[in-house]
Amino acid sequence: MKTQVKAIRIEEHGGPEVLKLVTVDVPAPQDSEVTIRQKAVGLNFIDIYFRTGLYPHPLPHGLGFEASGVVEAVGSGVKHLKVGDRVAYGQSPLGAYAEARNVPANQVVKIPRNVSFEQAAALMLKGLTVQYLFRQTYRLQGGETILFHAAAGGVGLIACQWAKALGVKLIGTASTPEKAALAKANGAWEVIDYSKENVVERVKELTDGKKVPVVYDGVGKDTWLTSLDCLEPRGLMVSFGNASGPVEGVNLGILASKGSLFVTRPSLGAHVATLEKMQASADELFGLVSKKKISINIGQRFALADAGEAQTALAGRKTTGATILTLD
Ligand SMILES: NC(=O)c1ccc[n+]([C@@H]2O[C@H](COP(=O)([O-])OP(=O)(O)OC[C@H]3O[C@@H](n4cnc5c(N)ncnc54)[C@H](OP(=O)(O)O)[C@@H]3O)[C@@H](O)[C@H]2O)c1
Repeated sequence: MKTQVKAIRIEEHGGPEVLKLVTVDVPAPQDSEVTIRQKAVGLNFIDIYFRTGLYPHPLPHGLGFEASGVVEAVGSGVKHLKVGDRVAYGQSPLGAYAEARNVPANQVVKIPRNVSFEQAAALMLKGLTVQYLFRQTYRLQGGETILFHAAAGGVGLIACQWAKALGVKLIGTASTPEKAALAKANGAWEVIDYSKENVVERVKELTDGKKVPVVYDGVGKDTWLTSLDCLEPRGLMVSFGNASGPVEGVNLGILASKGSLFVTRPSLGAHVATLEKMQASADELFGLVSKKKISINIGQRFALADAGEAQTALAGRKTTGATILTLD
């Protein structure tokens, strides 16, 4: 059975004006897919990289990786889902900005009863990212002091709460006093206003000169050098995003001169590539939500048709916490 739905498509790279609301066909799911009638869509900074062409993908294409909804049809090879299940995903092929769509079932998990569709859409990509950053890339044990940039953002507010739950002192950065207060209210130990303060000096003060064993940096270009200077000898720089632009032209010698540092540039896809990995990460995330260690901060809601406006707010540092697109 084929249905027609509204979805966002881009035919060229550019500003938010390239996002067009169009009508598309949703064919019957393939053997390994489910059709999801979507209830809410998660907005992420990576959506902007695909719109601008920073992350190239053949045009035309949809946008978005994260959403929640109800299973409407199930491919013949899918065993873990059935029609009517409440589900969510955070790492699909491009195209989550849509009323309904087909998604590979190995990326789709059921939502616990205590989690709403809006919460799930806000949580999956960002929460699974914090899961791998804190539990896989550098496995925090509790007791560490760490630096996490853009702490009042979508990923950031989940990170603040997760760090607190682990007994980790998270030093956050944020660009306004309001954002700093929000990060603190969500569990950050201290927050540095990196638009005014000297981050390296503040990190030294807060750690009695020791600095930190790991920096999580989703800001990219603007914070790269600062982040390296906040690390202890043999510390790990986790560069996981480009909100201010990509880090380019790195001379590896800088890692030696700043203290035999390690650097990694991870992405979520490699950490949730199978249903087993996706389910294990989602179980840990939803477990913390059920125990009320993590609550979901939806700072902004936009209609699907206003996805361009939503992206403008995100790129313009006007948002806090998660942003979702709502569907009727
Ligand atoms: N590698 C992965 O697996 C992965 C997965 C998810 C997300 N990410 C990355 O994690 C980062 C956060 O993602 P998010 O969706 O949660 O976004 P977000 O943190 O809600 O928004 C980005 C934040 O970055 C800060 N920022 C600093 N310089 C900026 C600039 N020049 N332009 C815009 N923002 C700037 C802003 O906070 P202040 O105003 O406080 O500075 C802004 O609110 C992004 O870089 C994203 O690509 C990576």
